[in-house]
Amino acid sequence: MNILITGGAGFIGSHVVRLFVKKYPTYNIINLDKLTYAGNLANLSDIEDNNNYHFTRADICDYDTVYNILSQYNITGIIHLAAESHVDRSIRDPFAFARTNVMGTLTLLQAARTYWESLPERYDGKRFYHISTDEVYGALPFDDTLFTENTRYNPHSPYSASKAASDHFVRAYHDTYGMPTIVTNCSNNYGPYQFPEKLIPLFINNIRHGKPLPVYGKGENVRDWLFVEDHARAIDTIFHNGTINETYNIGGFNEWRNIDLIKVLIDTVDRHLGNPAGHSLHLITYVTDRPGHDLRYAIDSTKLRDELGWQPSLQFEEGIDRTVAWYLNNPQWLDNVTSGEYLHYYETMYNNR
Ligand code: NAD
Ligand code: DAU
Repeated sequence: MNILITGGAGFIGSHVVRLFVKKYPTYNIINLDKLTYAGNLANLSDIEDNNNYHFTRADICDYDTVYNILSQYNITGIIHLAAESHVDRSIRDPFAFARTNVMGTLTLLQAARTYWESLPERYDGKRFYHISTDEVYGALPFDDTLFTENTRYNPHSPYSASKAASDHFVRAYHDTYGMPTIVTNCSNNYGPYQFPEKLIPLFINNIRHGKPLPVYGKGENVRDWLFVEDHARAIDTIFHNGTINETYNIGGFNEWRNIDLIKVLIDTVDRHLGNPAGHSLHLITYVTDRPGHDLRYAIDSTKLRDELGWQPSLQFEEGIDRTVAWYLNNPQWLDNVTSGEYLHYYETMYNNR
């Protein structure tokens, strides 16, 4: 197979590329990435010389370039992860999210349709797999309800609205043109190589520097956390064995209130740094809440477990321990991706209370 992975230089994409390059030496893996602030080829330095790995810098919104790559490599499968992914950035610049997440996905779909329909076998043996988020379902109350594959879409942020729109376009290409598509909606990922604007790497980096930890609102919002390598394994399983035109939810059955997770994180970082217990607790700083902040996400991934046999492999405490160890052992990676502009962005967006 010749598989195009978009956004392969980003956080989740780099784990998917690494898994496929190592596990499937007979596949050609083509990583198409624009290398925005979130894309970093250092995430893939360990596999960049493999014969079955190819990188091409391109924008998914550029139809001609995308079409040429599809035909140059005779692409048979697409795993689409490229996106603008950070909710806070979407609040500041929604147009960037509409451009990449909506128009970029539509451009990729149309280029794939045109290329595959030009071949004698058309869609036979082809697959367009779109990676989406649980945020399209909106927010849950503080009870025991879960997002299922049948939960109504109800996005609240420009990010989740743009992902919802892209999901609808993917399904429309199946229903209208017969393209073999799959959509998955996953919960919050954590692990190595995540850009330190997202909660876990941002807070590890700030604890390391003794800087304030900006907790939005009262820290009561709940997220369902999944180790990124478990998500990559789920993507592998679904890409190969998932049913066309189906949706699968992917989650960790692992809900945490932000403030509770932050305390676990502080404990773990302090332990790794040899600090006394509770040393960095004073860094917790409650700040103005994120506008439209979704209260709670929680995924029901029973369908994926029952139909395809996937389940998370890692307990959260072990995943957090591995994650903290990775960031503390790779300070150069953190320093390289943390720019002055990025810090300025946070200073202007949220005011300390
Ligand atoms: P990320 O921001 O770390 O990486 C995104 C990648 O896409 C980067 O390498 C970036 O350079 C690339 N990219 C951005 N715009 C592009 C464009 N126009 N053309 C080509 N490449 C472009 O994102 P992530 O956290 O790894 O998320 C990957 C995907 O998974 C996204 O679609 C996201 O919506 C989805 N997702 C993320 C999470 C999570 O917790 N991070 C959870 C569920 C779903
Ligand atoms: O649910 C899946 C989604 O998870 C993905 O689709 C997104 O791409 C990904 O960014 C993530 O979105 P969140 O908004 O949930 O993640 P984030 O790490 O930004 O925030 C996690 C929680 O922590 C959220 O309730 C907001 C809060 N938070 C975040 C930051 C960055 C803080 O309290 N302080 C912070 O500084």
